[in-house]
Amino acid sequence: MSELWYKDAVFYELNIRAFMDSNNDGHGDIKGLISKLDYLKDLGIDCIWLLPIYPSPGRDDGYDIKDFYNINPDYGTLDDFKELIKQAHDRDLRVIADLVLNHISDEHPWFIEGRSNPDSPYHDYFVWSDDPAKYPEARIIFIDTEISNWTWCNQAGKYYWHRFFSHQPDLNFHNKEVQNEIKNVIKFWLDLGLDGFRADAVPYLFEREGTNCENLPETHVYLKELRKFIDENYEDKILLAEANQWPEDLGPYFGNGDEFHMAFHFPLMPRMFMAIKRENNSAIIDIIKRTPEIPANCQWTTFLRNHDELTLEMCTDEERDYMYNEYARDRQMKLNLGIRRRLVPLLDRDFRKIELMYAMLLALPGSPIIYYGDEIGMGDNIYLGDRAGVRTPMQWNEDRNAGFSKCKPSKLYAPVITDPDYNYNAVNVESQQNLPSSMFNWLKDMIVIRKKYKILSRGDLNFLHSNNRRVLSFYLEYENEYMLCVFNLAATDQPVKIDLKQFQGYKPLEIFGQTELPKIGKSAYFLMLARYGYYVFYLIKNKAET
Ligand code: NOJ
Repeated sequence: MSELWYKDAVFYELNIRAFMDSNNDGHGDIKGLISKLDYLKDLGIDCIWLLPIYPSPGRDDGYDIKDFYNINPDYGTLDDFKELIKQAHDRDLRVIADLVLNHISDEHPWFIEGRSNPDSPYHDYFVWSDDPAKYPEARIIFIDTEISNWTWCNQAGKYYWHRFFSHQPDLNFHNKEVQNEIKNVIKFWLDLGLDGFRADAVPYLFEREGTNCENLPETHVYLKELRKFIDENYEDKILLAEANQWPEDLGPYFGNGDEFHMAFHFPLMPRMFMAIKRENNSAIIDIIKRTPEIPANCQWTTFLRNHDELTLEMCTDEERDYMYNEYARDRQMKLNLGIRRRLVPLLDRDFRKIELMYAMLLALPGSPIIYYGDEIGMGDNIYLGDRAGVRTPMQWNEDRNAGFSKCKPSKLYAPVITDPDYNYNAVNVESQQNLPSSMFNWLKDMIVIRKKYKILSRGDLNFLHSNNRRVLSFYLEYENEYMLCVFNLAATDQPVKIDLKQFQGYKPLEIFGQTELPKIGKSAYFLMLARYGYYVFYLIKNKAET
């Protein structure tokens, strides 16, 4: 694969705990994941993103790290990890993992020592204040659990700063030692063969009075240093930014191609859900138009769902109300500024809608990430606490515990989904692999197509003018090749006339069935789309016309 492999890659996000349990203790582990690498390869995945793999008290599913240099014992050992990398690489699969640099667990030795001894070098690894009103413009992120970004520490006799849970003190990046510690962590894991990191919560590294303490220039300076360190010492590694920000603020995370290779496109995701409810293409068009150009060696990462609540932070108040109204009727479904549901329940198990959303994901700019279980349409459990309801065991087959573990069901880290509509007896990998028309097989075919046409991952997007706002239409352009993409966002059949003058003489070739459509002429091109229907055409140049 080329140096820019991530620009064409399909990613798969998983939590080792939730994927496959090899020793039947109720928790997934690395050996379990290794046994499922062929499954991921078969689906067409290029790169796995592992949620935090490090020892942790587990109060934020591993995002509360207590040792950067080891593997969570529930998951296995460093040797297991090395074996995972080897086995993945043998299959041309890459592996990236979460790098949680903004904060650590309050059980980490740095905090334990730093809080009790003001003379310890570790004291200054954290952000302290006598005044809990400092940095008043910084918002609270976990609004359902936290009332302040400051928590009182009895031992230190002052407050410490935390952007997330109060048990996760922020590291003080003004301290050079902290900056170096993170470099050492990066070195440790890249030396073991990891292919890169999804860097957690990067907007919040530095604090400064008079600002909202997000996206500060000093943060970018430091992130560029990390990139430089990686580029100088390694090849082909990537950094993916988790920066839940507006498009204008996301642009700087790519720098001049010298900061992050990739960044999640957070604002696009909720607008795809909005678009199909409103039956109107404007939310998607507006946000893509607001999206900055990025350097040639960078790529967006796009997703429909992930391990967190469907975040509505990058929405206006009005948009957020609309989303709650449409997608979170039950109060249990809301969490912080988001909705804790999985993809298929959000889409009412309507396979037309599901196909449409995935088809858009694969055609819009960026490399897609699939969240484990969403390839088979797993359900959720909104009655589990926090975000646990979208993190239940992977459903492999109809055996005990969905084939995830042979332990007693009561020993599982979380119950499997048993509600009738999503019961693992019916919704599981094995049954979907055996059914040619299943969601799994459909998605697998889509990934094959996506890889066959490089324009789908590399093309520049240009919106097309049409007479129907319920239909989203654009073309992609890459190295003098063109692809026409048309999506019906409505629950009813829709006619559309698209202005394709510039492609006069070209013939649209439908890429799934390889069917040619009539030549494009001077007048607007007419298409009829079924409810939630879509077309992706490769435009064939008619030699006679050139
Ligand atoms: C972002 C992660 O995606 C989320 O799961 C976690 O709770 C926060 N960072 C805090 O670590």
